[in-house]
Amino acid sequence: MRVSVITVSDSSHAGTRADESGPKLVELVDKSLKVNATVNEGSPTVVPDEVAAIRDALLENCKNSDVIITTGGTGFSKRDVTPEATLEVVERRCSGLEIAMHTGSLQKTPMAALSRAIVGIRGSTLIVNMPGSVKAVKECWEILEPVLNHAINLLKGTDDGSEHQRMKE
Ligand code: MTE
Repeated sequence: MRVSVITVSDSSHAGTRADESGPKLVELVDKSLKVNATVNEGSPTVVPDEVAAIRDALLENCKNSDVIITTGGTGFSKRDVTPEATLEVVERRCSGLEIAMHTGSLQKTPMAALSRAIVGIRGSTLIVNMPGSVKAVKECWEILEPVLNHAINLLKGTDDGSEHQRMKE
C-alpha cells in the first residue's frame, strides 16, 4: 500500500521548529513488519495550520495514496483545524477507527481526550488524523497498524474473501 504523511504545523512550516512527528511516522510505516507499505516520496509534506492548505495537501495526496496520515492540529487551540479540513475532504467517516484510537490513547494519557482527530475515507483513500507529537504518533500507530492491511484490502476490493472470512472467525 502507498502511504503519505502530512505534518500540520505553523512552526515547522515556518522553519522555526523541527518536524519530529512526521519523520517518526515515516519511519514507523517504513519499518513495519505488519503492514506492507511504501511511503511516497516527498513525505512528510509540511503545511501550516490553515484549512485550505491542509485540504489541498489531502486532495493532492489522495491521487497517489491508499493511506494518508496527518500529524498535528487536532487539539483545542484556535489554530488547530486539521479535523475541519479533513471533514471537507472525507466522504465516509470511520467511527470505529476514531473510537479505537481515542480509547487506546486514553489508556496512555487522559490528555488524549483533547484530540479531535478524525478518520475517514475519500474514494479509496483512508485518511487518518493523529496528534502532533512523537509519543502520540507511536501510540496511535500501534492501534492502527494491526488493522491497516485488512482495511486497505477491503477499501481497494483486493480481498478475495478468504481474509475477510478469517478475520470474522
Ligand atoms: N494521544 C496519544 N495517544 N498520546 C498523547 O500523548 N496527547 C494529547 C492528545 N492525544 C496525546 C494524544 C494532547 S496533550 C493534545 S493537546 C491533543 O492530542 C492534541 O494534539 P495536537 O494539537 O498536537 O494534534
